[in-house]
Amino acid sequence: MDKIKIVGGARLNGVIPVSGAKNAALPLMIASLLSEETLTLDNMPRLRDVQQLTHILSNHGVDYSVNGKRPGQDALTGQTVHLTAGSIVDTTAPYELVSKMRASFWVIGPLLARMRQARVSLPGGCAIGTRPVDFFIEALKDLGADIDIESGYVVAAARNGLVGGRIRFPKVSVGATHVVLMAASLARGETVIENAACEPEVVDVANCLIGMGAKIEGAGTPTIHIQGVEGLHGHRHSVIPDRIETGTYAMAVAMTGGDVMLEGARADLLESALDTLRQTGTEITETNSGLRVRRNGSGISPVDITTAPFPGFPTDLQAQFMALMTKAEGASRITETIFENRFMHVQELARLGAKISLDGQVATVEGVKTLTGAPVMATDLRASVSLVIAGLVADGETTVNRVYHLDRGFERLEEKLTRCGASIERVSG
Ligand code: EPZ
Repeated sequence: MDKIKIVGGARLNGVIPVSGAKNAALPLMIASLLSEETLTLDNMPRLRDVQQLTHILSNHGVDYSVNGKRPGQDALTGQTVHLTAGSIVDTTAPYELVSKMRASFWVIGPLLARMRQARVSLPGGCAIGTRPVDFFIEALKDLGADIDIESGYVVAAARNGLVGGRIRFPKVSVGATHVVLMAASLARGETVIENAACEPEVVDVANCLIGMGAKIEGAGTPTIHIQGVEGLHGHRHSVIPDRIETGTYAMAVAMTGGDVMLEGARADLLESALDTLRQTGTEITETNSGLRVRRNGSGISPVDITTAPFPGFPTDLQAQFMALMTKAEGASRITETIFENRFMHVQELARLGAKISLDGQVATVEGVKTLTGAPVMATDLRASVSLVIAGLVADGETTVNRVYHLDRGFERLEEKLTRCGASIERVSG
Protein backbone atom coordinates (compact mmCIF):
# COMPACT_ATOMS: atom_id res chain seq x y z
CA MET A 1 0.00 0.00 0.00
CA ASP A 2 1.32 3.48 -0.88
CA LYS A 3 2.71 5.76 1.83
CA ILE A 4 3.43 9.47 1.96
CA LYS A 5 6.85 10.49 3.25
CA ILE A 6 7.36 14.03 4.50
CA VAL A 7 10.49 15.72 5.74
CA GLY A 8 9.39 18.68 7.85
CA GLY A 9 10.81 22.17 7.94
CA ALA A 10 10.10 23.84 4.58
CA ARG A 11 7.93 26.95 4.37
CA LEU A 12 5.24 26.87 1.69
CA ASN A 13 5.51 29.46 -1.07
CA GLY A 14 3.79 29.49 -4.45
CA VAL A 15 0.43 28.74 -6.03
CA ILE A 16 -2.00 25.89 -5.27
CA PRO A 17 -4.93 25.43 -7.65
CA VAL A 18 -8.09 24.48 -5.72
CA SER A 19 -10.02 21.54 -7.20
CA GLY A 20 -13.78 21.13 -7.57
CA ALA A 21 -15.55 20.19 -4.35
CA LYS A 22 -15.77 16.45 -3.67
CA ASN A 23 -18.90 16.89 -1.58
CA ALA A 24 -20.67 18.74 -4.38
CA ALA A 25 -19.35 16.48 -7.16
CA LEU A 26 -20.79 13.31 -5.60
CA PRO A 27 -24.44 14.43 -5.24
CA LEU A 28 -24.22 16.20 -8.63
CA MET A 29 -23.24 12.91 -10.26
CA ILE A 30 -26.14 11.20 -8.47
CA ALA A 31 -28.52 13.89 -9.81
CA SER A 32 -27.83 12.55 -13.31
CA LEU A 33 -30.16 9.63 -12.43
CA LEU A 34 -33.10 12.06 -12.49
CA SER A 35 -33.04 12.66 -16.26
CA GLU A 36 -32.73 10.56 -19.38
CA GLU A 37 -30.75 13.41 -20.95
CA THR A 38 -27.06 14.11 -20.45
CA LEU A 39 -25.73 15.99 -17.42
CA THR A 40 -22.31 17.50 -18.13
CA LEU A 41 -20.20 18.47 -15.12
CA ASP A 42 -17.17 20.76 -15.47
CA ASN A 43 -14.43 21.29 -12.87
CA MET A 44 -14.75 17.73 -11.60
CA PRO A 45 -11.96 16.61 -9.24
CA ARG A 46 -9.98 13.43 -9.99
CA LEU A 47 -10.65 11.48 -6.82
CA ARG A 48 -11.11 7.91 -5.73
CA ASP A 49 -14.61 8.67 -4.38
CA VAL A 50 -15.62 10.03 -7.79
CA GLN A 51 -14.33 6.86 -9.47
CA GLN A 52 -16.10 4.70 -6.94
CA LEU A 53 -19.39 6.48 -7.63
CA THR A 54 -19.03 5.87 -11.37
CA HIS A 55 -19.10 2.10 -10.61
CA ILE A 56 -22.31 2.52 -8.67
CA LEU A 57 -23.97 4.69 -11.31
CA SER A 58 -22.89 2.34 -14.14
CA ASN A 59 -24.58 -0.47 -12.26
CA HIS A 60 -27.86 1.49 -12.54
CA GLY A 61 -27.26 2.01 -16.28
CA VAL A 62 -25.62 5.45 -16.39
CA ASP A 63 -23.21 6.01 -19.30
CA TYR A 64 -20.14 7.91 -18.14
CA SER A 65 -17.46 9.57 -20.24
CA VAL A 66 -14.62 11.96 -19.46
CA ASN A 67 -13.08 14.60 -21.74
CA GLY A 68 -9.34 14.17 -22.16
CA LYS A 69 -6.89 16.92 -21.24
CA ARG A 70 -6.53 19.55 -23.98
CA PRO A 71 -3.11 20.77 -25.18
CA GLY A 72 -1.78 23.48 -22.87
CA GLN A 73 -4.08 22.49 -20.01
CA ASP A 74 -2.47 22.18 -16.59
CA ALA A 75 -2.52 18.68 -15.10
CA LEU A 76 -4.49 20.16 -12.23
CA THR A 77 -7.32 21.63 -14.34
CA GLY A 78 -10.67 20.03 -13.45
CA GLN A 79 -12.16 17.39 -15.72
CA THR A 80 -15.38 17.49 -17.70
CA VAL A 81 -17.61 14.44 -17.34
CA HIS A 82 -20.80 13.49 -19.16
CA LEU A 83 -23.40 11.33 -17.42
CA THR A 84 -26.40 9.93 -19.25
CA ALA A 85 -29.05 7.86 -17.52
CA GLY A 86 -30.98 7.12 -20.74
CA SER A 87 -32.61 4.16 -19.11
CA ILE A 88 -32.21 2.82 -15.62
CA VAL A 89 -31.53 -0.89 -15.85
CA ASP A 90 -31.31 -1.75 -12.16
CA THR A 91 -32.86 -0.07 -9.10
CA THR A 92 -30.80 -2.06 -6.61
CA ALA A 93 -27.65 -0.55 -5.11
CA PRO A 94 -25.84 -3.59 -3.70
CA TYR A 95 -23.97 -3.86 -0.41
CA GLU A 96 -20.61 -4.49 -2.12
CA LEU A 97 -20.78 -1.04 -3.72
CA VAL A 98 -22.65 1.04 -1.12
CA SER A 99 -20.48 -0.17 1.78
CA LYS A 100 -17.41 1.41 0.14
CA MET A 101 -18.79 4.94 0.27
CA ARG A 102 -21.62 6.27 2.37
CA ALA A 103 -22.76 8.93 -0.12
CA SER A 104 -23.76 6.19 -2.58
CA PHE A 105 -26.80 5.56 -0.35
CA TRP A 106 -28.13 8.86 -1.72
CA VAL A 107 -29.10 7.19 -5.02
CA ILE A 108 -32.26 6.16 -3.18
CA GLY A 109 -33.78 9.63 -3.78
CA PRO A 110 -33.55 9.86 -7.59
CA LEU A 111 -34.20 6.11 -8.12
CA LEU A 112 -37.40 6.29 -6.11
CA ALA A 113 -38.52 9.53 -7.76
CA ARG A 114 -37.92 8.37 -11.32
CA MET A 115 -38.48 4.60 -11.14
CA ARG A 116 -40.95 4.55 -8.22
CA GLN A 117 -38.86 1.90 -6.51
CA ALA A 118 -35.39 1.45 -5.05
CA ARG A 119 -33.56 -1.19 -3.07
CA VAL A 120 -30.45 0.28 -1.51
CA SER A 121 -28.09 -1.35 0.95
CA LEU A 122 -27.78 0.30 4.35
CA PRO A 123 -24.36 2.00 4.35
CA GLY A 124 -23.34 0.81 7.81
CA GLY A 125 -21.18 2.71 10.29
CA CYS A 126 -17.83 4.28 9.58
CA ALA A 127 -14.74 5.49 11.35
CA ILE A 128 -16.17 8.86 12.37
CA GLY A 129 -19.41 7.62 13.95
CA THR A 130 -22.52 5.45 13.64
CA ARG A 131 -24.13 7.69 10.98
CA PRO A 132 -27.70 6.34 10.81
CA VAL A 133 -30.15 6.93 7.91
CA ASP A 134 -33.34 7.50 9.91
CA PHE A 135 -33.83 11.07 8.59
CA PHE A 136 -33.77 9.81 5.00
CA ILE A 137 -36.33 7.10 5.72
CA GLU A 138 -38.74 9.40 7.58
CA ALA A 139 -38.43 12.09 4.89
CA LEU A 140 -39.11 9.67 2.02
CA LYS A 141 -42.13 8.35 3.93
CA ASP A 142 -43.34 11.97 4.20
CA LEU A 143 -43.16 12.06 0.38
CA GLY A 144 -45.48 9.05 0.17
CA ALA A 145 -42.99 6.16 -0.08
CA ASP A 146 -43.55 2.78 1.60
CA ILE A 147 -40.31 1.70 3.21
CA ASP A 148 -39.20 -1.59 4.70
CA ILE A 149 -35.83 -2.76 5.92
CA GLU A 150 -35.12 -6.26 4.60
CA SER A 151 -31.86 -8.14 5.08
CA GLY A 152 -29.74 -5.01 5.37
CA TYR A 153 -31.48 -3.24 2.49
CA VAL A 154 -33.83 -0.26 2.49
CA VAL A 155 -36.65 -1.28 0.16
CA ALA A 156 -38.67 1.72 -0.98
CA ALA A 157 -41.68 1.91 -3.26
CA ALA A 158 -44.05 4.67 -4.37
CA ARG A 159 -46.45 2.87 -6.68
CA ASN A 160 -48.24 6.03 -7.81
CA GLY A 161 -45.18 8.26 -7.67
CA LEU A 162 -43.92 10.50 -4.86
CA VAL A 163 -46.09 13.34 -3.59
CA GLY A 164 -44.96 16.65 -2.10
CA GLY A 165 -44.90 16.92 1.69
CA ARG A 166 -43.65 18.96 4.63
CA ILE A 167 -40.40 17.67 6.12
CA ARG A 168 -38.77 18.95 9.27
CA PHE A 169 -35.36 17.43 9.97
CA PRO A 170 -34.67 16.94 13.71
CA LYS A 171 -31.02 17.87 13.09
CA VAL A 172 -29.26 19.41 10.09
CA SER A 173 -28.23 16.70 7.62
CA VAL A 174 -26.39 17.45 4.41
CA GLY A 175 -27.11 14.05 2.83
CA ALA A 176 -30.80 13.95 3.75
CA THR A 177 -31.24 17.49 2.36
CA HIS A 178 -29.61 16.43 -0.95
CA VAL A 179 -31.85 13.37 -1.19
CA VAL A 180 -35.08 15.24 -0.51
CA LEU A 181 -34.10 17.99 -2.98
CA MET A 182 -33.65 15.36 -5.69
CA ALA A 183 -36.69 13.25 -4.83
CA ALA A 184 -39.06 16.20 -4.40
CA SER A 185 -38.01 17.70 -7.74
CA LEU A 186 -39.98 14.91 -9.47
CA ALA A 187 -42.77 14.56 -6.86
CA ARG A 188 -46.34 15.77 -7.48
CA GLY A 189 -46.99 19.11 -5.79
CA GLU A 190 -45.02 21.19 -3.31
CA THR A 191 -42.45 20.03 -0.76
CA VAL A 192 -41.19 22.21 2.06
CA ILE A 193 -37.98 21.27 3.89
CA GLU A 194 -37.48 22.86 7.29
CA ASN A 195 -34.15 22.83 9.13
CA ALA A 196 -32.46 22.10 5.79
CA ALA A 197 -28.67 22.04 5.52
CA CYS A 198 -27.36 25.42 4.26
CA GLU A 199 -23.96 24.08 3.11
CA PRO A 200 -22.63 25.55 -0.17
CA GLU A 201 -22.69 22.04 -1.70
CA VAL A 202 -26.48 21.93 -1.17
CA VAL A 203 -26.77 25.26 -2.96
CA ASP A 204 -24.60 23.95 -5.81
CA VAL A 205 -26.79 20.87 -6.23
CA ALA A 206 -29.96 23.00 -6.09
CA ASN A 207 -28.55 25.33 -8.76
CA CYS A 208 -27.76 22.37 -11.00
CA LEU A 209 -31.25 20.91 -10.49
CA ILE A 210 -32.76 24.31 -11.34
CA GLY A 211 -30.66 24.27 -14.52
CA MET A 212 -32.17 20.84 -15.27
CA GLY A 213 -35.67 22.32 -14.96
CA ALA A 214 -36.45 21.83 -11.24
CA LYS A 215 -38.36 24.52 -9.32
CA ILE A 216 -36.49 25.16 -6.08
CA GLU A 217 -36.46 28.27 -3.88
CA GLY A 218 -34.56 28.98 -0.68
CA ALA A 219 -31.52 26.70 -1.05
CA GLY A 220 -28.82 28.03 1.28
CA THR A 221 -31.45 28.94 3.91
CA PRO A 222 -33.06 26.59 6.48
CA THR A 223 -36.38 26.53 4.57
CA ILE A 224 -36.45 25.22 1.02
CA HIS A 225 -39.55 25.10 -1.22
CA ILE A 226 -39.64 22.64 -4.11
CA GLN A 227 -42.42 22.54 -6.68
CA GLY A 228 -42.36 19.12 -8.35
CA VAL A 229 -42.12 18.93 -12.16
CA GLU A 230 -42.95 16.13 -14.64
CA GLY A 231 -39.38 15.60 -15.85
CA LEU A 232 -35.89 17.08 -15.86
CA HIS A 233 -33.68 17.72 -18.88
CA GLY A 234 -29.98 17.77 -19.71
CA HIS A 235 -27.74 20.56 -18.43
CA ARG A 236 -24.12 21.71 -18.12
CA HIS A 237 -22.86 22.73 -14.68
CA SER A 238 -19.51 23.68 -13.15
CA VAL A 239 -18.69 22.29 -9.67
CA ILE A 240 -17.89 24.90 -6.98
CA PRO A 241 -14.32 25.04 -5.59
CA ASP A 242 -13.61 22.75 -2.65
CA ARG A 243 -13.87 24.79 0.56
CA ILE A 244 -12.40 21.97 2.65
CA GLU A 245 -9.37 21.65 0.40
CA THR A 246 -9.04 25.46 0.54
CA GLY A 247 -9.16 25.48 4.33
CA THR A 248 -6.75 22.57 4.55
CA TYR A 249 -4.04 24.30 2.50
CA ALA A 250 -4.67 27.60 4.31
CA MET A 251 -4.01 25.76 7.59
CA ALA A 252 -0.90 24.15 6.14
CA VAL A 253 0.47 27.62 5.28
CA ALA A 254 -0.51 28.91 8.73
CA MET A 255 1.48 25.98 10.15
CA THR A 256 4.67 26.23 8.09
CA GLY A 257 4.69 29.98 7.47
CA GLY A 258 5.11 31.31 3.93
CA ASP A 259 2.97 32.86 1.23
CA VAL A 260 0.61 30.84 -0.98
CA MET A 261 -2.04 31.82 -3.51
CA LEU A 262 -4.98 29.41 -3.38
CA GLU A 263 -6.08 29.79 -6.96
CA GLY A 264 -9.82 29.65 -7.59
CA ALA A 265 -10.68 29.59 -3.86
CA ARG A 266 -13.78 31.48 -2.73
CA ALA A 267 -13.79 33.18 0.70
CA ASP A 268 -17.61 33.22 0.91
CA LEU A 269 -17.62 29.40 1.14
CA LEU A 270 -15.64 29.30 4.41
CA GLU A 271 -15.86 32.63 6.24
CA SER A 272 -15.93 31.12 9.74
CA ALA A 273 -12.77 29.04 9.18
CA LEU A 274 -10.99 32.03 7.62
CA ASP A 275 -11.99 34.29 10.55
CA THR A 276 -10.60 31.67 12.94
CA LEU A 277 -7.36 31.46 10.97
CA ARG A 278 -6.99 35.24 11.05
CA GLN A 279 -7.28 35.09 14.84
CA THR A 280 -4.33 32.69 14.89
CA GLY A 281 -2.21 35.40 13.25
CA THR A 282 -2.53 34.31 9.61
CA GLU A 283 -3.04 36.97 6.96
CA ILE A 284 -5.71 36.16 4.38
CA THR A 285 -6.60 38.43 1.48
CA GLU A 286 -9.12 37.99 -1.32
CA THR A 287 -7.81 38.67 -4.80
CA ASN A 288 -9.22 38.30 -8.30
CA SER A 289 -7.61 34.90 -8.70
CA GLY A 290 -8.35 33.43 -5.28
CA LEU A 291 -7.18 33.70 -1.68
CA ARG A 292 -3.68 34.71 -0.64
CA VAL A 293 -2.60 33.16 2.66
CA ARG A 294 0.50 34.39 4.51
CA ARG A 295 2.20 33.96 7.84
CA ASN A 296 5.59 35.42 8.52
CA GLY A 297 7.81 34.70 11.52
CA SER A 298 5.11 35.43 14.16
CA GLY A 299 3.88 32.68 16.53
CA ILE A 300 0.54 30.91 16.17
CA SER A 301 -2.09 32.24 18.60
CA PRO A 302 -4.37 29.62 20.21
CA VAL A 303 -8.08 29.88 19.31
CA ASP A 304 -11.02 27.80 20.60
CA ILE A 305 -13.45 26.34 18.06
CA THR A 306 -16.72 24.43 18.07
CA THR A 307 -17.80 22.63 14.90
CA ALA A 308 -21.29 23.40 13.60
CA PRO A 309 -23.35 23.14 10.42
CA PHE A 310 -22.72 25.87 7.83
CA PRO A 311 -22.01 28.77 8.32
CA GLY A 312 -20.26 27.50 11.46
CA PHE A 313 -16.78 25.99 11.64
CA PRO A 314 -16.90 22.81 9.47
CA THR A 315 -16.33 19.42 11.07
CA ASP A 316 -14.35 18.52 7.94
CA LEU A 317 -11.66 21.05 8.99
CA GLN A 318 -11.56 20.12 12.67
CA ALA A 319 -8.65 17.66 12.42
CA GLN A 320 -6.55 20.04 10.32
CA PHE A 321 -7.17 22.89 12.78
CA MET A 322 -6.17 20.63 15.65
CA ALA A 323 -2.87 19.94 13.87
CA LEU A 324 -2.29 23.70 13.67
CA MET A 325 -3.11 24.19 17.35
CA THR A 326 -0.49 21.60 18.38
CA LYS A 327 2.09 24.30 17.58
CA ALA A 328 0.20 27.28 19.05
CA GLU A 329 1.65 29.46 21.80
CA GLY A 330 -0.78 28.25 24.48
CA ALA A 331 -3.85 26.07 24.98
CA SER A 332 -6.98 25.80 22.83
CA ARG A 333 -10.24 23.87 23.16
CA ILE A 334 -11.75 22.05 20.19
CA THR A 335 -15.36 20.88 20.52
CA GLU A 336 -16.82 18.45 17.96
CA THR A 337 -20.62 18.57 17.76
CA ILE A 338 -21.42 16.84 14.42
CA PHE A 339 -19.91 13.34 14.73
CA GLU A 340 -19.43 11.46 17.99
CA ASN A 341 -16.17 9.78 17.07
CA ARG A 342 -14.20 12.29 15.07
CA PHE A 343 -11.08 12.46 17.22
CA MET A 344 -9.23 9.46 15.77
CA HIS A 345 -6.33 11.75 14.81
CA VAL A 346 -5.63 12.68 18.44
CA GLN A 347 -3.62 9.57 19.21
CA GLU A 348 -1.67 9.83 15.97
CA LEU A 349 -0.85 13.53 16.52
CA ALA A 350 0.34 12.48 19.99
CA ARG A 351 2.82 10.11 18.29
CA LEU A 352 4.40 13.21 16.77
CA GLY A 353 4.70 14.81 20.21
CA ALA A 354 1.44 16.77 20.39
CA LYS A 355 -0.11 17.32 23.84
CA ILE A 356 -3.84 16.73 23.61
CA SER A 357 -6.29 15.60 26.27
CA LEU A 358 -9.79 14.38 25.49
CA ASP A 359 -12.93 14.74 27.55
CA GLY A 360 -15.93 13.47 25.61
CA GLN A 361 -16.48 15.77 22.67
CA VAL A 362 -13.89 18.31 23.82
CA ALA A 363 -10.17 18.18 23.08
CA THR A 364 -7.76 20.47 24.89
CA VAL A 365 -4.60 21.09 22.91
CA GLU A 366 -1.51 22.42 24.66
CA GLY A 367 0.80 23.92 22.05
CA VAL A 368 4.34 22.50 21.98
CA LYS A 369 7.59 23.98 20.61
CA THR A 370 8.57 20.91 18.59
CA LEU A 371 6.84 18.02 16.83
CA THR A 372 9.01 15.05 15.87
CA GLY A 373 8.51 12.89 12.76
CA ALA A 374 7.14 9.35 13.17
CA PRO A 375 5.16 6.72 11.26
CA VAL A 376 1.43 7.47 11.60
CA MET A 377 -1.84 6.37 10.07
CA ALA A 378 -5.43 7.51 10.07
CA THR A 379 -8.83 6.06 9.44
CA ASP A 380 -10.52 8.86 7.51
CA LEU A 381 -9.43 11.38 4.95
CA ARG A 382 -9.55 14.58 7.00
CA ALA A 383 -7.68 12.90 9.85
CA SER A 384 -5.04 11.70 7.37
CA VAL A 385 -4.46 15.17 5.98
CA SER A 386 -4.13 16.61 9.49
CA LEU A 387 -1.15 14.25 9.91
CA VAL A 388 0.34 15.57 6.66
CA ILE A 389 0.03 19.15 7.96
CA ALA A 390 1.71 18.19 11.22
CA GLY A 391 4.43 16.32 9.28
CA LEU A 392 5.23 19.51 7.34
CA VAL A 393 6.63 21.10 10.51
CA ALA A 394 7.80 18.02 12.43
CA ASP A 395 11.54 17.54 12.86
CA GLY A 396 12.76 14.70 10.63
CA GLU A 397 10.67 12.23 8.66
CA THR A 398 6.96 11.48 9.01
CA THR A 399 5.40 8.56 7.11
CA VAL A 400 1.64 8.63 6.64
CA ASN A 401 0.30 5.13 5.99
CA ARG A 402 -3.03 4.16 4.38
CA VAL A 403 -2.73 6.84 1.72
CA TYR A 404 -5.92 5.63 0.04
CA HIS A 405 -7.84 7.76 2.52
CA LEU A 406 -6.11 10.87 1.16
CA ASP A 407 -6.80 9.84 -2.43
CA ARG A 408 -10.52 9.70 -1.64
CA GLY A 409 -10.67 13.45 -1.10
CA PHE A 410 -7.47 15.31 -2.03
CA GLU A 411 -6.46 15.54 -5.67
CA ARG A 412 -2.69 15.23 -6.21
CA LEU A 413 -1.90 16.40 -2.71
CA GLU A 414 1.82 15.67 -2.86
CA GLU A 415 2.18 17.39 -6.26
CA LYS A 416 0.40 20.52 -5.04
CA LEU A 417 2.56 20.74 -1.90
CA THR A 418 5.82 19.90 -3.71
CA ARG A 419 5.22 22.78 -6.12
CA CYS A 420 5.22 25.08 -3.06
CA GLY A 421 8.51 23.77 -1.71
CA ALA A 422 7.41 20.98 0.65
CA SER A 423 9.52 17.85 0.88
CA ILE A 424 6.81 15.24 0.37
CA GLU A 425 6.69 12.14 -1.80
CA ARG A 426 4.56 9.08 -2.42
CA VAL A 427 6.30 5.78 -1.90
CA SER A 428 4.69 2.77 -3.56
CA GLY A 429 4.57 -0.36 -1.53
C1 EPZ B 1 -21.73 15.17 4.71
O1 EPZ B 1 -21.94 13.88 5.27
C2 EPZ B 1 -20.33 15.15 4.15
N1 EPZ B 1 -20.21 14.10 3.13
C3 EPZ B 1 -19.32 14.91 5.27
O2 EPZ B 1 -18.03 15.00 4.72
C4 EPZ B 1 -19.48 16.01 6.33
O3 EPZ B 1 -18.62 15.74 7.40
C5 EPZ B 1 -20.93 16.04 6.83
O4 EPZ B 1 -21.85 16.20 5.69
C6 EPZ B 1 -21.21 17.18 7.80
O5 EPZ B 1 -20.90 18.40 7.20
C7 EPZ B 1 -20.53 14.38 1.87
O6 EPZ B 1 -21.01 15.45 1.52
C8 EPZ B 1 -20.28 13.32 0.85
P1 EPZ B 1 -24.88 14.60 7.76
P2 EPZ B 1 -23.40 13.41 5.66
O7 EPZ B 1 -26.05 13.78 7.33
O8 EPZ B 1 -24.38 14.02 4.76
C9 EPZ B 1 -26.64 12.62 11.79
C10 EPZ B 1 -15.79 14.30 4.39
O9 EPZ B 1 -14.78 14.17 5.12
N2 EPZ B 1 -27.65 11.91 10.98
O10 EPZ B 1 -24.94 16.07 7.58
O11 EPZ B 1 -23.35 11.94 5.78
C11 EPZ B 1 -25.21 12.11 11.51
O12 EPZ B 1 -24.94 10.93 12.18
C12 EPZ B 1 -17.16 13.85 4.83
O13 EPZ B 1 -15.74 14.77 3.24
C13 EPZ B 1 -28.60 11.15 11.62
O14 EPZ B 1 -28.62 11.04 12.86
O15 EPZ B 1 -23.55 14.03 7.12
C14 EPZ B 1 -24.39 13.29 11.97
O16 EPZ B 1 -24.24 13.25 13.35
C15 EPZ B 1 -17.19 12.99 6.02
N3 EPZ B 1 -29.53 10.48 10.85
C16 EPZ B 1 -25.26 14.50 11.60
O17 EPZ B 1 -26.59 13.98 11.41
C17 EPZ B 1 -29.55 10.59 9.50
O18 EPZ B 1 -30.42 9.96 8.86
C18 EPZ B 1 -24.85 15.23 10.32
O19 EPZ B 1 -24.60 14.27 9.30
C19 EPZ B 1 -28.59 11.40 8.85
C20 EPZ B 1 -27.65 12.06 9.62
